[in-house]
Amino acid sequence: MTRTAAALAVLAAAVSAAPLAARPTPHAAALARGRADSLEVCAVCHVVAPDQASQPVLTHPAPSFESIANDPKTTAASLRKFLAISHWDRRTRPMKMDRYVLPDHEMDDVISYILSLRHGPR
Ligand code: HEC
Repeated sequence: MTRTAAALAVLAAAVSAAPLAARPTPHAAALARGRADSLEVCAVCHVVAPDQASQPVLTHPAPSFESIANDPKTTAASLRKFLAISHWDRRTRPMKMDRYVLPDHEMDDVISYILSLRHGPR
């Protein structure tokens, strides 16, 4: 192989590998959507990501998503159940969480994102 041909072969390999490396896996894409939804809907009251732009506004802050994820009692099912019901009468203080009507796919993405914040082996 000439040097040019070798260089071209390397280049061709790099070009064909690049889209594969750049394309997120379905799981990574779901986590990214879950993170984005969390930042949009949940971050006013929860720390959903350590680098979120602004801090929650509550006087009695809601638990961070990281601490929720690392509570041994937390499972996908417990999160789904929690998010499906309303706990707050809109008067009692400190407030309880209201119900957020997320469409099913967003609920799945947000739950995957929360569980991805769990430390150590899953
Ligand atoms: C208006 C403020 C507010 C928003 C917005 C909000 N939450 Fe909450 N959340 C709270 C408060 C306050 C609590 C703690 C009291 C309670 O359990 O209701 C809480 C508790 C929780 C818990 C239970 C934590 C535990 O200890 O088990 C989960 C899970 C949760 N929120 C998820 C979410 C998700 C996901 C979103 C976005 C879709 C969200 N929250 C949006 C205020 C909020």
